[in-house]
Amino acid sequence: MSINAFIFDLDGVLTDTAEYHYLAWAELANELGIAFSREDNEHLKGVDRMASLAFILDKGGITLDEDKKLQLADKKNQHYQQLINRMSPEDLFEGVLPLFDQLKQQGIRIGLASASKNAALVLTRLGITDAFDYIADAAKIAQGKPHPEIFLTVAKALDIPVHSCVGVEDSIAGLHSILDAGMHSIGIGDAEVLAAADLVYPTIGQLDLAEITTEF
Ligand code: BG6
Ligand code: MG
Repeated sequence: MSINAFIFDLDGVLTDTAEYHYLAWAELANELGIAFSREDNEHLKGVDRMASLAFILDKGGITLDEDKKLQLADKKNQHYQQLINRMSPEDLFEGVLPLFDQLKQQGIRIGLASASKNAALVLTRLGITDAFDYIADAAKIAQGKPHPEIFLTVAKALDIPVHSCVGVEDSIAGLHSILDAGMHSIGIGDAEVLAAADLVYPTIGQLDLAEITTEF
């Protein structure tokens, strides 16, 4: 079976913004008096802003009206944007540019399936916007990860059948999104956390394109 597209998640796959999301949520949870660990954060990776806030409030047993929730989500986002505004091309994970070059040489198309409404800004800071053949607009996705909508949207826009697509994710929610889309899956991170993936690499720099194309 040939592979014709790689569809990447952004936060935690191409750069360390997963850590910035964690730091911004942890500060908000702390202000609300809610315990929030890195283990809790694993469940928030890939999950959109309002659903992430709902998880934290639920953990703290706090019920708030919609206005207050929007206010808190906005506060987290302002903190997050302060963190990403300091980013530069140096923050791209090692190995990403050579991987993109290899994919292009082999005629494999490159898509982005990030749940983040800040994705365009992060790509600009990293200087890699032009590397993508298609970038999903998170604001237009009705059902967030783990629903497959975002990966299916990118495959359709690239006009590549799902069985010829590889999805690359660091989150449990995102991995399920790829699996339910019927694509091949690559996990980036802890093999135990991402046990459902077809292949897992500790970092994107260790991703082995020859191994992947042989395996799939
Ligand atoms: C995902 C992150 O990529 O984007 C989540 O893994 C984040 O942590 C989600 O909540 C939404 O991001 P944003 O920037 O729209 O709040
Ligand atoms: Mg991610």
